[in-house]
Amino acid sequence: MKESEIITLKTPAEIEKMRVSNLIVAEILAKISEKAAPGIATIELERICEEDLSRRRAKSAFKGYRGYPFCLCTSVNDEVVHGMPSERILKDGDILSIDFGVEYNGYYGDAAVTVPIGNVSDKADKLINIAQSALNLAIDAARVGNRLFDISYAVQNYTEANGFSVVRTFVGHGIGRELHEPPQVPNYGPPGKGVRLKEGMVLAIEPMINAGGSEVIILGDGWTAVTKDGSLSAHFEHSVAITDRGPYVLSKL
Ligand code: MF3
Ligand code: CO
Repeated sequence: MKESEIITLKTPAEIEKMRVSNLIVAEILAKISEKAAPGIATIELERICEEDLSRRRAKSAFKGYRGYPFCLCTSVNDEVVHGMPSERILKDGDILSIDFGVEYNGYYGDAAVTVPIGNVSDKADKLINIAQSALNLAIDAARVGNRLFDISYAVQNYTEANGFSVVRTFVGHGIGRELHEPPQVPNYGPPGKGVRLKEGMVLAIEPMINAGGSEVIILGDGWTAVTKDGSLSAHFEHSVAITDRGPYVLSKL
């Protein structure tokens, strides 16, 4: 987080540069999602990502960030976020969250998806769908004249109405020349409150949704966040610009 709490507004030209960074994120995420299947180790996905990044001369946003050692976060099943690529082999019925960011030409992009590995349970399938829809509803609230927590409330209201819970330990964030800029974007909060959304704000909106309780714990590696009750967790993220023509989803293919 920057020291200043001032939200930097981006010009249309800057937003187009951010679109370029976020398209790189979207294309690589799509490729990795396709490769994610029963029998592949998550470290292999990391290698594919590394290769693609260097071919494009783009830089990982995560590797080296506070000492994080990988380009990807790969969080399996009860892992909420910041799971690390490893020799762990994905198996039929797992769900995998892939979180990925780049810096390109001075601007950051950041997005995440959760994908089913082979055939997953109805519960896992529902969790993925609800988390994806919660993000879509949040994006739709990212409009000039709305307030910040309208975005937050959209996630919370829809998620809880569907019997799942919202993780509170981690939040979304502003994004631009830095990966994490003000404001923080919680996935819960009172509608009609928070700063007024303005043209030129760019937000990384990232609901983390648990099938059970909302609590998380951090494992001994200092990174991997898992659900306290062992329930499944899903995570989706898009970087979204607020424009006079509505939300512009920069990280969508
Ligand atoms: N999408 C996450 C975020 O916004 C990923 C950060 S992982 C880290 O913050 F390695 F960079 F910390
Ligand atoms: Co993020």
